[in-house]
Amino acid sequence: MWNSKTVLVTGGASFIGSHLVDKLLANKAIVVVADDFSSGRLENLEYPLKRVKGKAIWTADNLTVHQGDLKERTFTRPLMRDIDVVFHLAALHGGRGYIHTHPADCCTNMLLDQLVFEEAHKAEVDRICFASSACVYPSYLQEDEGSDYLLKEEDAHPFVRDKAFADLEYGWAKLMGEMALKAYHRQYGMKTSAVRIFTAYGPRENETHAIIAFIAKAFVQMDPYEIWGTGEQDRNFTYVEDIVDAMMLAAEKIQDGSPINAGRDDRITINEAVNLVFNIMGWNPKKIHHDLSKPTGVASRAADLTQARKVLGFEPKISYREGFDRTIKWYTSTRKREDVKKHLQHLLMER
Ligand SMILES: NC(=O)c1ccc[n+]([C@@H]2O[C@H](COP(=O)([O-])OP(=O)(O)OC[C@H]3O[C@@H](n4cnc5c(N)ncnc54)[C@H](O)[C@@H]3O)[C@@H](O)[C@H]2O)c1
Repeated sequence: MWNSKTVLVTGGASFIGSHLVDKLLANKAIVVVADDFSSGRLENLEYPLKRVKGKAIWTADNLTVHQGDLKERTFTRPLMRDIDVVFHLAALHGGRGYIHTHPADCCTNMLLDQLVFEEAHKAEVDRICFASSACVYPSYLQEDEGSDYLLKEEDAHPFVRDKAFADLEYGWAKLMGEMALKAYHRQYGMKTSAVRIFTAYGPRENETHAIIAFIAKAFVQMDPYEIWGTGEQDRNFTYVEDIVDAMMLAAEKIQDGSPINAGRDDRITINEAVNLVFNIMGWNPKKIHHDLSKPTGVASRAADLTQARKVLGFEPKISYREGFDRTIKWYTSTRKREDVKKHLQHLLMER
């Protein structure tokens, strides 16, 4: 499927985007990245990139990176030429602290998504895969701490009564993106898919996201160590390589815009995740402070994987311990303790 295909990855310099680029290149695709570097970083693309003189374009073998704002049609339109597959990941997005305090910024994703989809359609791109989110799911299904309810694809649907109740403006924008991709399939036959990503983590992620925040606070030995909320809220933290596998499988196997979950169906509480970080890093604070004034999101969240297993043959492969271990190794080898200490409060809220 991927050999010699020309693939555009919007937001390809991001945390998940850069891992997707790695896997596409390993599968011999020709990759074009479009990113404004608002949170993505050129350094996330670990290739010998050379800048084209006088232009915001970098190239390496089978990889071209264009810097620009995809909300500008003059930037987006020429990029779509001769593209076989688009993975659309560009978005204004961050962890709970970011999406809670940047509601208007998250609304601009509706404009961004619709423009990318329209230009892909006009350019007759063969297929498009959208980085959707678990935030499309109704928050009332995720209110009970210790719940064992697994979120099924049919729990969020814009046209079914009581099934459209997304998590904040960010979640609504993703749900509207999914709706548009189904519409493009229905009206024009465009091959589309939407992957509902659940709480991804791994190397190259930023500190607005929970796991990286836990590691950063332990790295600077914050004491009392601050946890947002009671810590009894749980998540199905999913290692980035598993997410990327699901995205590529969805682009290969889904054509009618049906959304599909990418995540785990087992979960751990925030307190358990923090303890695992302490255990791997070999450090414990003397005191833990649970800050109940901070945003925590829903109480309990994990994915039903019935569809992902059946349609994609997807199975998450990386255990919590292995994923945390790899992420801690990356973080502590790429950061300076003094820098993190100095900027920590900013890093936790701003991507
Ligand atoms: N990280 C997660 O747990 C998670 C969960 C659900 C969904 N997602 C989705 O996955 C995608 C990637 O997220 P991420 O966590 O890797 O990092 P991210 O949110 O930082 O990635 C977004 C990327 O888009 C780029 N971007 C933003 N606006 C742009 C614009 N107007 N033009 C061009 N580029 C622009 C940013 O520079 C960045 O590289 C996003 O769409 C996000 O909503 C992520």
